[in-house]
Amino acid sequence: MLNSIGLQNPGVEYFMDNDLPWLKKFDTKIIVNACGSSIDEYVELAKVLNTLDIDGVELNLSCPNVKAGCMAFGTSYEGVKQVTSEVRKVLDKPLIVKLTPNVTDIVEPAKGAEDAGADGVSLINTLLGMSIDIEKQRPFLANNMGGLSGPAVKPVAVRMVYQVAQAVKIPVLGLGGIVTGKDVIEFMLAGATAISIGTGNFIEPETSIKAIEGVEDYMRRHNIDDINSIIGKVQMN
Ligand SMILES: Cc1cc2nc3c(=O)[nH]c(=O)nc-3n(C[C@H](O)[C@H](O)[C@H](O)COP(=O)(O)O)c2cc1C
Repeated sequence: MLNSIGLQNPGVEYFMDNDLPWLKKFDTKIIVNACGSSIDEYVELAKVLNTLDIDGVELNLSCPNVKAGCMAFGTSYEGVKQVTSEVRKVLDKPLIVKLTPNVTDIVEPAKGAEDAGADGVSLINTLLGMSIDIEKQRPFLANNMGGLSGPAVKPVAVRMVYQVAQAVKIPVLGLGGIVTGKDVIEFMLAGATAISIGTGNFIEPETSIKAIEGVEDYMRRHNIDDINSIIGKVQMN
């Protein structure tokens, strides 16, 4: 998928009053993905989120299609460290920092998050892409460029999860193109302690359930009692 939906949403007050009560009806953990256009905005948002009955916050430092913010912080060690440490000062809840793959070296921003006190990093966000309508000779997306996700990005995501898991001590949450249980296993062997599924849900709403079944099948076939035992266990050639 190539999207440029930006980060439109009704804001944190609306979330508090409407979405959160709905989410609380389900027996599940709630991790809120948050993005601001300046460090002050990230901090203001984190202060509000700190007061809510949620299980954690994932800072989005990586959205490629928002003009101001996000991407500006996510591409360097210093940028990630700066915004993460400011948020850390006001947030007592578990803090995950979500990284952009649109960098030369993914380890640098990951270390910035770790050094600033993040509890984990998640990766990858979407890869910057572009697609052209050859009849009109113009990009398909109104924003010209957008974020690429889904199975096409999986090898990039697995590689980056592996590199980051080798370099940091905090847990790595892996995502990017996961649609099956086999994909989940691949991310865990690379070093992910947890995974997420985004685009897969657009293809098939039951993707997560089927992925869990696929993981269980793999565990049966390989006589694995505890899925944690495979984390980071890829044997490199
Ligand atoms: C339609 C769409 C909206 C997204 N919105 C967000 C967002 O608000 N915050 C964020 O951190 N990532 C966002 N992402 C990125 C995904 O969470 C995920 O990092 C990326 O798509 C790779 O995973 P996937 O291949 O499983 O989708 C979005 C992706 C898509 C396709």
